[in-house]
Amino acid sequence: MGAGAQWRPACRSTVAARRAARRTGLSRRETCCVRVLKRICSSVCVAAVGFTLLLGVCLLYLPEPFTLEPSVSLSEETGAVTLLIWTHPFGRYRKLPDCWELYQISECTLTDDAGSYPEADAVLIHHREIVTGEADLPQAPRPHAQKWIWMNYESPTHTPRLWRLEGVFNLTFSYRTDSDIFLPYGYLVPRTRTVSDVHNHFAQPLYGPSHSSLRPHRLVAWVISNWSESHARVAFYYQLRRYIQIDVFGRAGRTLPAGSGSVVQLVRRYLFYLALENSQHTDYITEKLWNAVRAGAVPVVLGPSRQNYERFLPPEAFIHVDDFPTVQELARYLLTLRRSPARMRRHLDWRGSYGLHQPAFWHEHYCTACRAVRRTRGRADVVRDLTGWFHS
Ligand SMILES: *[C@@H]1O[C@H](CO)[C@@H](O)[C@H](O)[C@H]1NC(C)=O
Ligand SMILES: *[C@@H]1O[C@H](CO)[C@@H](O)[C@H](O)[C@H]1NC(C)=O
Repeated sequence: MGAGAQWRPACRSTVAARRAARRTGLSRRETCCVRVLKRICSSVCVAAVGFTLLLGVCLLYLPEPFTLEPSVSLSEETGAVTLLIWTHPFGRYRKLPDCWELYQISECTLTDDAGSYPEADAVLIHHREIVTGEADLPQAPRPHAQKWIWMNYESPTHTPRLWRLEGVFNLTFSYRTDSDIFLPYGYLVPRTRTVSDVHNHFAQPLYGPSHSSLRPHRLVAWVISNWSESHARVAFYYQLRRYIQIDVFGRAGRTLPAGSGSVVQLVRRYLFYLALENSQHTDYITEKLWNAVRAGAVPVVLGPSRQNYERFLPPEAFIHVDDFPTVQELARYLLTLRRSPARMRRHLDWRGSYGLHQPAFWHEHYCTACRAVRRTRGRADVVRDLTGWFHS
């Protein structure tokens, strides 16, 4: 009888069953059951194989998770590029970097001399200065193939007067994954590549939970520099502090220890860190999250949706304020985790497989833009609906 036959006729096929019973010494009933089991098994196997194949096909077409790093195509990396940095962001002068020395990006000339405008392949324009009036857009006619790049790392809530810039730019450059030039505040790099990939030699390995990292810690830290009663994060803080102790640092709380990396040092002593964005927008996930990740504290996030965070991090790597129906239940969960190292470990184990890259403001941005100009050379681009896009 073929494998495709139904299991019911197998039980009724008494001749075959008796023959099988003679061979194996099993009773008719037992033989029947063995056959039924075999059939069930083979159906399960076929189903399992089918499912696995389907899953494989699905995975092929799904975007790979957490590979949000800017893509690099080495074959297109030829030809010199001159990039004019129109203003130093927020008016803070910084010496321009050598992109070859820092990032092995070759033939990239950065300049902040407005006199190079006619020769520049592209002009990098930071949003803030041109809408506050600290700087104007270039006034001379735009050379034929020159690209103007709109660069902005603030959220839409803090990006005023966008409407003035419709149809002006050729490329967008921001933390949004769908920017023409995409560079987030931070991204994870699978651990196997952190050592070998030259473009990621800045990725620092993260470490899974050690015995000491699960030891009783202080509970929750929050560093807040711009306190505004109108922010959702402040309303959330007022609610959460009714249930648990929160240590607040920054202008609105205790003073932060001085020095660079001080936030990370401080947060190391805590189990949880409140990574609460000043406003909630697509892909707007800032250094607040990545500093917590670097420090080994589990971030409690308020920002875009959980689904949006999951494009950047494994689902268990953070606790989203929307995961709980009430703030009280969120507080209760944090207290449960403190009492249970095994459950806490679930939020930390993923770390062993990743490194973290936090791009350097603004050196890395300049060099990334320079590489992108080369990649898009010879292509006409116009940013038509800057406002609609950035607010979407
Ligand atoms: C602080 O928050 C207020 C209110 O949202 C905002 O207007 C202001 O630009 C913020 N300041 C900084 C430095 O981000
Ligand atoms: C850049 O944008 C301007 C303004 O929309 C447009 O006139 C020009 O053709 C664009 N240039 C390129 C190279 O895409």
